[in-house]
Amino acid sequence: MIAIRTSREIGLLRDANQIVAEVLTALAGMVRPGVTTGELDAAAEAMMLQRKARPAFKGYHGYPASTCISVDEVVVHGIPGKRVLEPGQIVSMDVGVQYRGYYGDAAVTVACGEIDEDRQRLLDTTDWALSEAVHAAREGNFVRDIGRAVQRVCEAQGYGVVRDFVGHGIGTEMHEAPQVPNFDVGGAGPRLKAGMVVAIEPMVNMGGYQVKVLADGWTAVTADGKPSAHFEHSVVVRESGGEILSGAAWPVWGRRGPWPGSLPGNNEKTV
Ligand code: MF3
Ligand code: CO
Repeated sequence: MIAIRTSREIGLLRDANQIVAEVLTALAGMVRPGVTTGELDAAAEAMMLQRKARPAFKGYHGYPASTCISVDEVVVHGIPGKRVLEPGQIVSMDVGVQYRGYYGDAAVTVACGEIDEDRQRLLDTTDWALSEAVHAAREGNFVRDIGRAVQRVCEAQGYGVVRDFVGHGIGTEMHEAPQVPNFDVGGAGPRLKAGMVVAIEPMVNMGGYQVKVLADGWTAVTADGKPSAHFEHSVVVRESGGEILSGAAWPVWGRRGPWPGSLPGNNEKTV
């Protein structure tokens, strides 16, 4: 069953997701060469507790930290620690909280210092794919339309869209029905109705879509070692498209495609 949330519940989900957005905005401002991923995690946890929010990832299936910080070839679920950020890396930061019984979950990938054009293009394209996917999260569409939007944008660039991890419903649990894949699973699948709330989170690889999980049981890396980007918003399904609950006060997210000259005839919205 996929929950339809009342406006009161959506208000609570917005509160939780706005805490996530504030934390991510602060973290994005802290990313620079020399900072450790553990320092970012500690700052994030302090901000959550200050706002009376519980770090939702900590202890989740035994996960040991309050954030996931995934550098370059790490796709998702990088465990923060002693790793020192270096110039030229891309850093995905994923934050989740529980606040007054409701969950917030979002992620953003940012540059550490100057990055090369290939990495910049991966970030821009993945963020653009998320915005297309949010637009597809509207009443009457199917869940599969969200993944189709991601795939259409990213595969046109030759990128690999990760299949082993998916987005999800979010509400009084961090992970609820439905699963929200970033690729087209085929079949009809569930239809989207106004008031459903989903976390949409494209994970996009510069190379192939295949990933593997390291011996720590968490860290997911690209099989070919090439960089990967990850953006996530929690959104309410509305008649005209998804309404973002985890929007930031300034555009940590919000790059728009298409990359100049890259996608002839392939960027019209489906109406
Ligand atoms: N943000 C992740 C998600 O969207 C959850 C991180 S896994 C955890 O599903 F174990 F760290 F919580
Ligand atoms: Co999520």
